[in-house]
Amino acid sequence: MNTDSQSGSGAPAPVIGVSPADLDRAAAVILAGGLVAIPTETVYGLAADATNGVAVARIYTAKGRPSFNPLICHVADLAMAETLADFSPLARSLASRFWPGPLTLVLPRKPSCPVSDLATAGLPTIALRSPKHLAALGLIARVGRPLAAPSANPSESLSPTRASHVVAGLGSLIDLILDGGACEAGLESTIVAPGEGGAVMLRPGALARSEIESLTGSLKAPEAASGVLAPGMLRRHYAPRASLRLGATDQRSGEAYLAFGPSPAGVSPSLNLSIRGDLEEAAANLFAMLRALDETHSMIAVAPISDTGLGEGINDRLKRAGALA
Ligand code: TXA
Ligand code: MG
Repeated sequence: MNTDSQSGSGAPAPVIGVSPADLDRAAAVILAGGLVAIPTETVYGLAADATNGVAVARIYTAKGRPSFNPLICHVADLAMAETLADFSPLARSLASRFWPGPLTLVLPRKPSCPVSDLATAGLPTIALRSPKHLAALGLIARVGRPLAAPSANPSESLSPTRASHVVAGLGSLIDLILDGGACEAGLESTIVAPGEGGAVMLRPGALARSEIESLTGSLKAPEAASGVLAPGMLRRHYAPRASLRLGATDQRSGEAYLAFGPSPAGVSPSLNLSIRGDLEEAAANLFAMLRALDETHSMIAVAPISDTGLGEGINDRLKRAGALA
């Protein structure tokens, strides 16, 4: 592994593919305590052996992430997850229905759970998901342990949906980058805590609320459920440098316009999240387009986006990206 990376003055991490030989190499880096950026169906993750406290500490250092903000542990399947956490019948049916896929479950940690306390920030709970991506699953299978992996970006900046985004944000601070192309969903997983008094949605994301509610009934907001919070839901998050103006139906002088669907008269869109107004396509484009406009403009006006389906997660990220520091 690239031991220089701990000082932050390391050489740029090699970018390799996702062939079986590449995954073997990545597994060796992880087992040696290193950090590997991996593609998932949502966004790129920065993975380490979740059971190795020193490796997990390096994730926090590389990202500049506050250590009270716990990490998601990625598992091969429900069987591996059940060695780490207690599953209620509802939790089990959610995992059976949506894994592998973009649903993270926050569950009580088992006393015998071997995951480092640092990964769960000392909480009695653990966040688990099984990613729907062959490279991520192939790596977990080779390592044979859960992988702690937050999104592979410096803390508070936009999540990466291409390997090149990881290179730009963390390239010299980590050991290896697996390039699996563009992420299919482009938005982070939806986080749910299926507790006793009803399930709580801690973060909207790539799995739409309505899909989950078909199993859980109405999902509660975190404010309505005392004590359950995703510590990482800081108001300002996913932030570009540019200022954002949301729900914009006009374009002011100097602004880039990020359109969704047909653009209003008098507006000349810089980019369009989805010309046909498709929310899945918009989610997949969101972070890459915000990054691109952030390079060229200091003000970005964003078209109104409906709050239905994946729109809930898209609008959540836009609000956090636009919140003032
Ligand atoms: O799609 C995703 O979820 C991506 C990919 C890489 O899997 N990961 C991701 O990780 O978005 P991250 O670290 O950027 O966001 C994880 C969120 C944070 O808001 C954190 O506070 C919350 O999960 N979280 C983790 N463990 C938790 C726990 N035990 N209780 C409540 N929230 C937790
Ligand atoms: Mg993140």
